[in-house]
Amino acid sequence: MNVAIIGCNGMGRMHAQMAVNCGFNVVACADLELSTARSVASGFDADATDDCFGVLTRPDVDVVGIMTPTPTHTEYVVAAAKAGKHIFCEKPFGRTVQQCKEAIAAAKKARVKLFVGHVVRYFQEFEAMRAQVAQGKVGKVGFVRLYRGGIFPAGQSGWFRDLEQSGGVTLDSMIHDFDWLRYVFGDADRVFCQALQRTVPNHVDYSMATFRMKNGIIAKVIGTWAHPSGFRVEAEICGDQGIIQFNSDDTPLKAMKRTAPGAGASMIVPSSPVHTSPYQLEWEDFKVWLDGKLRARVTPEDALEAVRMATAALKSAETGKPVKL
Ligand SMILES: NC(=O)c1ccc[n+]([C@@H]2O[C@H](COP(=O)([O-])OP(=O)(O)OC[C@H]3O[C@@H](n4cnc5c(N)ncnc54)[C@H](O)[C@@H]3O)[C@@H](O)[C@H]2O)c1
Repeated sequence: MNVAIIGCNGMGRMHAQMAVNCGFNVVACADLELSTARSVASGFDADATDDCFGVLTRPDVDVVGIMTPTPTHTEYVVAAAKAGKHIFCEKPFGRTVQQCKEAIAAAKKARVKLFVGHVVRYFQEFEAMRAQVAQGKVGKVGFVRLYRGGIFPAGQSGWFRDLEQSGGVTLDSMIHDFDWLRYVFGDADRVFCQALQRTVPNHVDYSMATFRMKNGIIAKVIGTWAHPSGFRVEAEICGDQGIIQFNSDDTPLKAMKRTAPGAGASMIVPSSPVHTSPYQLEWEDFKVWLDGKLRARVTPEDALEAVRMATAALKSAETGKPVKL
């Protein structure tokens, strides 16, 4: 199947490779910045264009990958659906719940398959935690704490810094955890969120959202774009019979490479314990669905609910009051 990638900087470049790894052909790369489109297209012998809507109607394109800034996702999803193309859209699905509804309606009307990249569902560590919860390893869960922290992302032309566009760390980053919470523990009932944003002397966004889930579980999600460098994820799941803890700093696998005697100091190269990138697993899952087999692990409705949780958290942070979902 042939893929066109729209939005070719950070995520677009990576997804093009992931799609190819799964047997798709990348035939076109589109970006408002033609040079960005060209720099990715050249690696795949694909066409480059800045006509981002034009590329959607190419007869040789079967699937469109949408890796543009969040508020632009819906217009591309709707246009791709109208052109009869299947769609892989990066998360967040939309900037608002209403946008997500429009996208779902367009895909349903056109009978095309719409996948949203909630990649945390494909991370081995998170899958292992989900399995342990499902197997009752820690008994009845009462409390969950999730943490996700990294640098303030730059993005092309600084769009992440504009809260109206990106939704800040709460919508853009914590949405990974919101989706995973729903995936494992069901729907949320209400949220209280506090967030601090600073632009001087540098950009910082720090947010803490506490959910009461419909089944009574309390879940605290902390997200920061305040790290000077690096990226860290933590999880803690407390049940009446035990606790599951995960910290991405505690790399479970280390590849220790010994150099030949006299060839210099040995080095220690920490490597990911995952055999296949979770971003590739997303494309593999999408492909199985496209092939008419199992439905993908993430539905568009799941992605809408994640946006609902994130926008409710933002509303709570703004008003200082809990928000019912
Ligand atoms: N799943 C993840 O782990 C993850 C990580 C980072 C970002 N994301 C998401 O991926 C999306 C893209 O993020 P990014 O970090 O690659 O951003 P980016 O700014 O690095 O890249 C966006 C690209 O889209 C282009 N663009 C901007 N407006 C456009 C438009 N209207 N039409 C066509 N092209 C346009 C820009 O020129 C740029 O090349 C965002 O929704 C972001 O939230 C997901």
